[in-house]
Amino acid sequence: LTLALAALVLGYLLGSIPFGILITRFAGTQDIRTIGSGNIGATNVLRTGRKDLAAATLLGDALKGTAAVLLARHFWGEPAALIAGLGAFIGHIAPVWLKFKGGKGVATFLGIALGLFWPSLVVFAVVWLGMAFLFRYSSLAALTASVATPLSAWALGRADVAVLMALLAVLLWIKHHANISRLLSGTETKIGAKG
Ligand code: G3P
Repeated sequence: LTLALAALVLGYLLGSIPFGILITRFAGTQDIRTIGSGNIGATNVLRTGRKDLAAATLLGDALKGTAAVLLARHFWGEPAALIAGLGAFIGHIAPVWLKFKGGKGVATFLGIALGLFWPSLVVFAVVWLGMAFLFRYSSLAALTASVATPLSAWALGRADVAVLMALLAVLLWIKHHANISRLLSGTETKIGAKG
């Protein structure tokens, strides 16, 4: 139980680093929480017009999830890696430093998938890119890819990863409730548009 708690805390601390805010503050752009969707993630950083900062945010928010999983696995083994992944995801969507107003979890979700079972990241990436290419909505691409990820992990024999990623997908969908409303009403912003 102590190990589980340690893995959860390690994951949370890494996951709660808000790269979108840190990177845009360092670059001196407008506060991303005041533009577009107000979200702290890469999609909204792109609305500053800075592709490089959006890419850096995506990378940072993803790799903190990967790092949490790999560190926990290294120190405490596979079950701890799963728990650290959960911690990192919660840290990203509800960081104590931002009064629990965190991101929507997409980048961190894929970073955790990479660390736990890389084939599920491939599935995520293929579905995300395909959906983004077809419909041009970052949120819709992420919502679809997040469902495909646990299903594929299950099909490929990693039931443990599938259960965790399904739980993360539920949280991701909850965090996207405003996007889901906008998609249903036809008012969601397309990728790269200022919104
Ligand atoms: O990564 C979050 C994305 O799915 C939606 O972001 O800023 O359009 O709400 P945003």
